[in-house]
Amino acid sequence: MCGIVGYIGDENATPVILDGLKRLEYRGYDSAGIAVIQDNKIFVRRDAGKLSHLSDLIQNDPINGNIGIGHTRWATHGEPNTRNAHPHLGSTGNIVVVHNGIVENYLELREELSAEGVIFNSDTDTETIVHLIERFYSKEQGLLAATEKALTLIRGAHAVVVMSSYEPDKIIAARIGNAGGVVVGYGDNEMYVASDIPAILERTRQVTFLEPRQMAIISSTGVKIKVIEGEYVQPQIHIVSWDPISAEKGEYRHFMQKEIHEQVRSINDTLAGRVDFDEGMIRIPELNLTKDLASRIEKIYITGCGTAAHAGMVGKIMIERIAKIPVTVEIASEFRYSDPIIQDNTVVLAISQSGETADTLAAMEEGRAKGATIWSIVNAIGSQAMRIADGYISMQSGPEIGVASTKAFTSPLVDLYMMAILIGHMRGSLGESERKRLVNDLRLVPDLIGQCLDREQDVLLVAEELKDARNALYLGRGINMPIAYEGALKLKEISYIHAEGYPAGEMKHGPIALVDRELPVVAIAPKDPWWEKMISQVEQAKARGGSVIILATDGDQRSAELAKHVLWVPDTPWLLSPVITVLPLQLLAYHIASLRGLDVDQPRNLAKSVTVE
Ligand code: AGP
Repeated sequence: MCGIVGYIGDENATPVILDGLKRLEYRGYDSAGIAVIQDNKIFVRRDAGKLSHLSDLIQNDPINGNIGIGHTRWATHGEPNTRNAHPHLGSTGNIVVVHNGIVENYLELREELSAEGVIFNSDTDTETIVHLIERFYSKEQGLLAATEKALTLIRGAHAVVVMSSYEPDKIIAARIGNAGGVVVGYGDNEMYVASDIPAILERTRQVTFLEPRQMAIISSTGVKIKVIEGEYVQPQIHIVSWDPISAEKGEYRHFMQKEIHEQVRSINDTLAGRVDFDEGMIRIPELNLTKDLASRIEKIYITGCGTAAHAGMVGKIMIERIAKIPVTVEIASEFRYSDPIIQDNTVVLAISQSGETADTLAAMEEGRAKGATIWSIVNAIGSQAMRIADGYISMQSGPEIGVASTKAFTSPLVDLYMMAILIGHMRGSLGESERKRLVNDLRLVPDLIGQCLDREQDVLLVAEELKDARNALYLGRGINMPIAYEGALKLKEISYIHAEGYPAGEMKHGPIALVDRELPVVAIAPKDPWWEKMISQVEQAKARGGSVIILATDGDQRSAELAKHVLWVPDTPWLLSPVITVLPLQLLAYHIASLRGLDVDQPRNLAKSVTVE
C-alpha cells in the first residue's frame, strides 16, 4: 500500500528517496512522486504507473536538493493518475504533503476550503491537509503549529509528512491512528523518515517509531518528538537487526518462490530458543503468560485478515484440542464492528505479517476497549500490532516481499501450536507425556518441509496442466479445511483464476452443481482424522466427472486410484499437517501464475500491507 520516504542531510535527496521508494515497491502502488527543495523553492515530479516512469521523468528534468519527500500511492480517493499522485502542493507552492490514510471528513473540509476560495488541483482527500496547513501558517507560529492545527481537524487514521520552503531546515511527520507506521532513521548529519523500515534499512539501523498521535520534527542533526497538542517526549531509539541481503531475490525468479523455499529456515528460526526438546517445554517470555492468566482464560478470539485469518482457523483447532479453551475466529474487518462479547477472561489474539493492517489493529483496539488481554503474532519487528499487545510472538520469518504470503503463513501455524502447548501446560489441561510427545513432534517439521519442497518438479507438472483453467474448487475438512481456503486464495490472488475454498462436507449443499470435466477439484486429503470422510467426498466429485487432484500422504493407495494427479506429502503428525499440506498449494499457485507470465510478486490491485479500511 502507500509508501513514504523523506530525507534531510548533505546528499542529494532525489536518489536517496527514489531508492527508498523502490524498496517499498513490494507494498503495491499505482503512482509515485517526489518533492525536493532546490534554491528555496519546492519542485515536484510525479507520474502514474511504476517508479521507472518517475525515474525517467526526473532524468529528463532533474531536481536536486538536500531535503525532500517521496511517495508511492495506492489509490483510494481519485483515479491513479498524475494529478492525484502525491506529493500535493498548497496554493502558494510553499508547502507540500505526502500522506497515507483516508481523511474521512474530506468532503466537508473541501467544501469549507472551497468556500474560502481555495482551488483544488486533484480529486484526493490528501489535498485538504496541505490547504489546511496553509490556512494556519504564519511566520510567527511556524510550520509545526500550522501542521498541528490542521491535524486536529482531519478525521480518520493517518501518516502525514510535510515540508515547506518557508522552513527548509526540517521535515515534519505525524502519525494518527493506524494508517501504517512512521519510522525516523538516524544517520551521520542526515536523517530519514519512512512508512516502513525496509525503505531506509540499507542506510541506517537506528530508528525511532512514532506512536499514534505523535509528531516528529526532523532536522539533519536529529529529531524531536511531540505529542499532538501535548508535550515533547524523549525519542526511543531501536536498533534493527534485519539483514537487507535476505531481502534480495538471490537465485530465484521471484520473491514468492524464494520465500516458499525459505520455509525450512523460517520454521527453524521460529522454533529457535522457544522449544526445549530435552525438557519437552515451550518458552515464549514475550507472550507474558502467567499461570494466573493461563488458568483464568475462558475464551480466545483469533482475528486477522486473509492468509493470517486462515492461520487463525488452523490455530482454533490446535488450541481447542491441546489447551482445551474455546476459540472463535473472526475476520478482523467484521470483528471490529461486531460488538463482540468480551469479558475479563477473554484473550484477543491478532495475527499479522505486517503488523500494520488497519482492520487487524482496529480489532485489537476493540478488544482492548472491552477489557480483553491482547496478544499478537507478528512478523514485522517493531510494528504497531507488536507494540500495542500485552504479549506477542515474533514470527521470525524475515522480510516477506511477495504480496502473496507464504512463509508468514507457516510460521504462525507453528507459533499457534507452541502457544497451545504452553497454555495447556500452564493451566494444567495438558498432561506431561502428551506435552512431551507434542513438543517432540516439532522436531520433525523442518525436515518434512524440506522433503516437500524437494518435490517441486511434480507440482510443476500439475501446474502445466492447470494453467489454462478458468475456475478451480479446493476442498478440505477439519484442520485442513483452512488449507483449502488458503490454497484457493493463493491461486486467485496471483494467477487471477477464480478459485473457491470449501469445506468438503458442504459440497453436496450447492457447489457440487459446478462440477464437470472442466473444473479442477483440488482435494486436501492427508492421513488425518478426517481422511475417510474426505475420500468419500472426492468420490462424489469424481462420479460427476470432476477432474480431481488429490493432495495425499505418501503410500495412500486409495487416493492414487481415485485421482487424475496426486500431490504427495510426507506423513506428518496431524496437528502439524497444515504446515506441510499448504506447501504444494503455494508452489502450485506460484507455477501456474508464473507459466501464465504474470507479475507474481506484485499482482494487480493488491498491496502487501493494507493500511486502509
Ligand atoms: C495473502 O497472500 C494476502 N496477500 C493477504 O490476504 C494478507 O494475508 C492480509 O492482507 C493480511 O496481511 P497482514 O498479515 O500483514 O495483516
